This record gives sequence, C-alpha cells and structure tokens, in this order.
Amino acid sequence: MTIELDHTLVPVRDKERAARFFARIFGLTYEGPQPPFAPVRVNDRLTFDFIDNDNDPVPVQHYAFKVSEAEFDDIFGRVQADAVRYGSGPYRLEDVQINHRNGGRGVYFRDPGWPYSGDPDPIVPRRAATFAAFHAGDKKMHFAVVYGSVRSKRQGIKYARFVQAQLVARGHDVSLIDPLSYPLPLLDKMFKEYPEGTAPTPLPELAAIIRAADGFVIVSGEYNNGIPPALKNLLDHFLEEWFWRPSAIACYSAGPYGGVRAAMQLRATLAELGMPSIPSIQPMPKVQDQFDDDGTPRDPAHVRRIGRFLAELEWYAAALKEARQHGTPY
Ligand SMILES: Cc1cc2nc3c(=O)[nH]c(=O)nc-3n(C[C@H](O)[C@H](O)[C@H](O)COP(=O)(O)O)c2cc1C
Repeated sequence: MTIELDHTLVPVRDKERAARFFARIFGLTYEGPQPPFAPVRVNDRLTFDFIDNDNDPVPVQHYAFKVSEAEFDDIFGRVQADAVRYGSGPYRLEDVQINHRNGGRGVYFRDPGWPYSGDPDPIVPRRAATFAAFHAGDKKMHFAVVYGSVRSKRQGIKYARFVQAQLVARGHDVSLIDPLSYPLPLLDKMFKEYPEGTAPTPLPELAAIIRAADGFVIVSGEYNNGIPPALKNLLDHFLEEWFWRPSAIACYSAGPYGGVRAAMQLRATLAELGMPSIPSIQPMPKVQDQFDDDGTPRDPAHVRRIGRFLAELEWYAAALKEARQHGTPY
C-alpha cells in the first residue's frame, strides 16, 4: 500500500496574503481563492490549502521543502529580493544567515501574516506558519547510537533517544543499538569466532549495523563508577567491526556528576576497540528528570549543548571516512 499526502490545511492570519507570498517565494502559481481556501499546488501530488484562522494564537506549523541546489538559489534569491526576514533555524528566524548543515544549505522564514520581533507580545513571532527550503549536502553519514542498560526501570534510554533524534535532525541515518532489542547472552564467543554464516541471531544483524556506521555515540550510565554490564557485553562481542571510526561518549547518572567516572573507563575500552573517543564528553546529571519517555528534552538548552558535541563527532567521522577511502593500515 502506498499512502501519500494529497493536501493539507495551512491555517494563517490572512490566507490570500500567505498564499501569494508562499507561491511567489517558492516559484509556484497561485490561481486565486476557492472559498474557504486559497490553494497553492506545490507539485503534482500535493496542494496547500491556506485558510483563515482567527484563533489567537494561530497554531505553530512548520513546512520544510527539500529542493535542488538551483531551486535553493532561486528561492533564496527571492527571499532576499523581497526583503523577507530570514534565518538559519526554526528558533533563529531572523539571524540573517542560512545554515550549512551537512554541507548543504537551509533557510527559514515566516509567512508574512504576523509581526516580527520587537512586537510587544514576545510570543507573536512563534505564532506564524514558518517555511524552510533546504538542499541536502553530501555529508550525510550513518551513526549508531549504542546504549547499554537492560534494567526494567532504566532511565538512560531517554537520553539515547534524544541523541538519536538530534543526529537525525542533523540529516544523518541513525541506528539505535539497544540491548533489549538485540538480546545477547553473556559473552561466549565473539562474532568473529563463529564460522561464517553460523553466528546466532542477533549477531549478524548487529555486525552489519556496526560495519555500516561512520561513527558511534556510546550512551553510558555509571554503575559503581564503571559502565553497565550489558554495554560491556555488547561491546565485547565485536572487535574489528568497530575499527577505524570515531566514538563519542554521552554519559549519564542519577546523581550530579553525570557518569563521568564511567566515561573515563569507557575511553580506554573504546580505544582498544579501535573507535577512539573524541575529546569532548557529554555528561547528563539527573538523567531521570531531563527527558520525556520519547526523548523530548525538558530543557531546550540540551539541544544547543549537544549540537556542539555532535558537530565535533561529525568532524572526526568525516575526516576518518575520507581517510578510509584511501585504505587502512591493516
Ligand atoms: C548497580 C548500580 C550501580 C550504580 N552506581 C552508580 C554510580 O557509581 N554512580 C552514579 O552516579 N550512579 C550510580 N547508579 C545510579 C545510576 O546512575 C542510575 O540508576 C541510572 O539511571 C542508571 O542508568 P539506567 O537507568 O539507564 O540503567 C547506579 C545504579 C545501579 C543500578
């Protein structure tokens, strides 16, 4: 079955104005109202039906369009020609910059129905429909987030989901390796010790995920100053499969120190496993209070902080990816 979005309502303060603006900036055609809508055909398969909404506030909506490099040039050119205020992110709608995530370009702007910052009501700038146009760069990579607690009341899984979501938001493919989803016995044989084709489930699947990754984020709790046993068990099932890629340590604990003592031990293990860890670590104190179950951060500052950490990992991952294309020492 193929399900396709056919049309959607776009509630705005002034549908005619918003439809004309949207069509002009994105190089589309607005053919006039079809009450109660002001429809704009986005492509052969999708229509945006702008509709007036007098509720206060108009709900926040965000529409991001993937475009080619040439289309981005055209769209951004019209944004600048029309003196539309723009910015580099959904929370940076007026910083007059575009982003260069993963080597691509992205620009964000609002529909014109709402006033901009400087308005006496500070909530106003968040009420508009916002649009983004971006073209993907060629720096998309594959990361594996490795988590290692199987406790029935485990908390760190929320941090792992947050890290996964942040990497996805940066344009990467991400696999979450959760030992509850990939149950392993206590180590008997490493994956490589099984004759080819005989390793039991889930070892071959895990090996494939690990081999495909350009880098790893190890999300580790702290148990008696060391790392959780399920994490060590998972790591030790593999060796060469981890080699020649960087890792980054996102540690956490229930207390105030964020698992840094376990992180220091983990560094030595990761080095031995051939995935040396990047200089920064990302400790998360009081992990049980920081996220909703799905990994949504309760403090938006976590997004900014982890951005710097993940950018560092991306830098090392891209450098080693390039180096691997010229071979490895052994
Ligand atoms: C066996 C065990 C040992 C622990 N030892 C420490 C510790 O040394 N330092 C610390 O800050 N927290 C320690 N804690 C508390 C953990 O930081 C907290 O329970 C955390 O949520 C564990 O991660 P998880 O919920 O993902 O399993 C320990 C917890 C367990 C279960």
